[in-house]
Amino acid sequence: MWAAIKKSPANLSLVIATAVAFGLPGLARACQDEVNYDESKVPKYTLPDPLVCLDGTPVRDAKTWFEKRRPEILELFRKYVYGRSPGRPADMWFETTSVDENALGGKAIRKEVTVHFTKRPDGPAMHILIYLPKDVPPPVPMFMGLNFYGNHTVHPDPGITLSKAWMRPNKDYGIVDNRATEASRGRAAQQWQVEKILSRGYGLATIYYGDIDPDFDDGFQNGVHPLFYRPGQTRPAPDEWGSISAWAWGLSRAMDYLETDPQIDAKRVAVMGHSRLGKTALWAGAQDERFAIVISNNSGCGGAALSRRRFGETVRRINTAFPHWFCQNFKQFNDREDELPVDQHMLIALIAPRPVYVASAEEDLWADPRGEFLAAKGADPVYRLLGTDGLAVDEMPPLDKPVMSRIGYHIRRGKHDVTEFDWEQYLTFADIHFGRKPRP
Ligand code: GCU
Repeated sequence: MWAAIKKSPANLSLVIATAVAFGLPGLARACQDEVNYDESKVPKYTLPDPLVCLDGTPVRDAKTWFEKRRPEILELFRKYVYGRSPGRPADMWFETTSVDENALGGKAIRKEVTVHFTKRPDGPAMHILIYLPKDVPPPVPMFMGLNFYGNHTVHPDPGITLSKAWMRPNKDYGIVDNRATEASRGRAAQQWQVEKILSRGYGLATIYYGDIDPDFDDGFQNGVHPLFYRPGQTRPAPDEWGSISAWAWGLSRAMDYLETDPQIDAKRVAVMGHSRLGKTALWAGAQDERFAIVISNNSGCGGAALSRRRFGETVRRINTAFPHWFCQNFKQFNDREDELPVDQHMLIALIAPRPVYVASAEEDLWADPRGEFLAAKGADPVYRLLGTDGLAVDEMPPLDKPVMSRIGYHIRRGKHDVTEFDWEQYLTFADIHFGRKPRP
């Protein structure tokens, strides 16, 4: 039901009408109470000031930002929102499992690299798929992002290893009994635009997010969490990592690999993600300053959207439907958004002065497009303090009219998705901020 409601407010009205017709006033009320899609019903709220320290000291220079306020905000997000993660495992190692110098009809190099998290070759691991354009001299600038249904979904290329990992059920992606099948190949090609990325002179690295932590609530028994339990520990402490933190941790481990690959320019890596993986990209980019650009596609609640607006998905809804995504402490803020010591503009501010792009979609009201814009705007004072142009507009731009300042933003026509239009903007944004000559 929530899936239908979040897709469109029209569905919400339908559910309410049906509930009333079937004599279910409780359900009707719950729907009305819980999802607000009416701008005039957004409560009044005050955002915490990213440029005032917890002890009241105003932040007037870069030094105070980097040495005092930024660490403070990072700690608040760790403790109360996503949960703290461990560092790089001491025994981690990389294994290149395949290389094709002539992939995609000779246009690309394709390689697959396994990141082993422990010494054991058959132990927990994640698999990175890498495409590099052959007509760009190395080291190549990259886009990197986690994918939802396996590396083999990003392109029909039969040379990509079919994932053997557990997957969420999805007929459209050819998932049978929670496993990928040959029918899964290329199913997310539209969302990844591999050829376009390559032709614009960038490489792509992608990883199935379930390699790091399968996306269901099992009390953190599978995935990478148990690798780090102290003796006797059976689940993360209230301020320790949930799944979003684990996925972000995986992106940092993939960056550890990229730094070792001479064909890759690890200083020019844009981390990108959609929806829950957009939340993840922001959190990865906020913590790990090696990511040179951060891109959030329709990330919504717990991502780029301000929690205090309670428009579309709320803190309580997300913590209820996805109890494993955030840390246990975040649940204290269900229906108590005003008590959060942070809001999501401060997550974006943690990325400053690195370029960050926030993208919304007109019909994606569940993710609160206006809340995403306002969070980007709320990070602007930090970007300006650090000497950049911040987000160079005061109002939400018209549909399909991207803003390419240091904080980038667009709201495009259409629904919750990653489209060719989105990728075109990300590629142009990377060209501008990496100072590269645009390729047609
Ligand atoms: C759900 C969830 C969102 C999330 C989305 C996705 O809709 O409520 O927070 O962004 O799934 O990841 O597809």
